[in-house]
Amino acid sequence: MKIFLDTADVAEIREYAASGLVDGVTTNPSLAAKTGKDYVESLKEICALVPGPISAEVLATDFDGMMAQAKIFQKIAPNIAIKVPLTWDGLKACRALTDGGAQVNVTLCFSAVQAMMAAKAGAAFISPFIGRLDDIGEDGMTLIRDIRAIYDNYGFKTEVLAASIRSVSHVLHCALAGADVATIPTAIFKKLLDHTLTDKGLAAFIADAKKANVTIKG
Ligand code: G3P
Repeated sequence: MKIFLDTADVAEIREYAASGLVDGVTTNPSLAAKTGKDYVESLKEICALVPGPISAEVLATDFDGMMAQAKIFQKIAPNIAIKVPLTWDGLKACRALTDGGAQVNVTLCFSAVQAMMAAKAGAAFISPFIGRLDDIGEDGMTLIRDIRAIYDNYGFKTEVLAASIRSVSHVLHCALAGADVATIPTAIFKKLLDHTLTDKGLAAFIADAKKANVTIKG
């Protein structure tokens, strides 16, 4: 499963991209607002830090506006993926942009039928929001499994990009469900390697070596 960072914070991306474990980045208007920086300028910096797809989300809600903003994003770098909302205009823009060779991420997906329609519009990525479904008492993971089944039934090439991830357990269950990508807030990304037995085991190895004066000489 590919791991994307779900943030527009350039400093955070710089820090974690250095691990070599970040395959891409997703941003959205709310994440851009949090940075207090110019969205296009941030995207330029992010595209230079991470070679994988960087999702840049349009603010327009009509077809012409989305196409105009997509053009601005496309000038930034070749690894930009245009993010459009799952609406009639969004899917129309998805088809037009895809036909023109762009990668499109269709966002704000809350049903498997919506995901099927985005795939028919040629989306490179579909972004189902797990956490927001859990928030209203539904099961976000069921949506991931349903989309996986539909895409596999018909051979849709659209990648399932699980979004609105709130826990390490979400990441685990996305991988088990066959999501192609999970986009993860940095607070969760940091926790992916955590295990108390890893910490305890490492401390014991170091202490034992110190006690017995074990060294590694070149
Ligand atoms: O990429 C957008 C999505 O991940 C939003 O997450 O936590 O605002 O529901 P959240």
